[in-house]
Amino acid sequence: MHIVVVSHPKGGVAKTTSVTSLAGALVERGHRVLAVDLDPQGSLTLALGHIPQEVQASVVDVLQYRLPLQEAILSTEVPGLDVVAATPQLRHAQRDLKSQDSYTLLRSFFRPWASQAAYDYVLVDTPPGQDLLTLNALIMADQVLIPTQPEYFSAYALRYLLQAIRWVRLRFQPALAYRAFLTMYQPRYRAHKWIRARLEVTLGPGLCSTTIPVDTKIREAAIAGLPVTHYAPRSRAAQAYRALAQEVFAHEPLSIPRRVEETVGGASAS
Ligand SMILES: Nc1ncnc2c1ncn2[C@@H]1O[C@H](COP(=O)(O)OP(=O)(O)O)[C@@H](O)[C@H]1O
Ligand SMILES: [Mg+2]
Repeated sequence: MHIVVVSHPKGGVAKTTSVTSLAGALVERGHRVLAVDLDPQGSLTLALGHIPQEVQASVVDVLQYRLPLQEAILSTEVPGLDVVAATPQLRHAQRDLKSQDSYTLLRSFFRPWASQAAYDYVLVDTPPGQDLLTLNALIMADQVLIPTQPEYFSAYALRYLLQAIRWVRLRFQPALAYRAFLTMYQPRYRAHKWIRARLEVTLGPGLCSTTIPVDTKIREAAIAGLPVTHYAPRSRAAQAYRALAQEVFAHEPLSIPRRVEETVGGASAS
């Protein structure tokens, strides 16, 4: 089983959307997938058809009350796709992690379980920012996927995550792999093309060639509580996420650019 963490320091770059859509694409290919919500806002939980305030069990019970992970798993409308929900109480769990200064708590729950669980992929959604919960997630991951909008601030913020990945590799997980990809990409915008070109130079093969277009079906799918692959199977977004799944789940670990400062905007920062 493969643990994949979807992360980016900024909100609104399509982290949650990418977790549901890639999960849908993997399920279509016959894999069993567990989606895990680590955002106290519970967007992933909602996007997969559960109301955070009403769930029987969540990741909070696992972290704070040591509920066995298996008992926190909820089913979804999509056969083969399950979810571990988040609730607003996850904020307290975040605070506890901080007071314990714990980097490996999440890993201590997920890794032993993962070795015997019936899933092929665990896809983990993270909140914006880079708190201890997100670091905990990176430390237990086999692979980090980084959705980024082709906007200056999103591309600029990437450096913070790349620095965190490098730190995790040094201290915990030398084999941690990463791939970035562009979401809501509109090739007719010059600024988008420019950002893409810069990221291609900096990240090389770390940047996926697949891009995700703007597609309103994504928003409708979230309301319907389904991955876009299942809500609108023939939509442009569904096809793009299938291509992305194909691209990101067959690769070797990549090196991080020697100077993370070389990411977009580096010149003005140095
Ligand atoms: N490819 C897309 N086309 C159109 N809207 C999108 C696309 N990807 C994401 N969105 C919308 O952008 C918003 C932010 O996406 P979300 O996945 O919640 O980002 P994050 O989890 O990074 O905060 C949501 O309203 C979502 O529906
Ligand atoms: Mg989100």
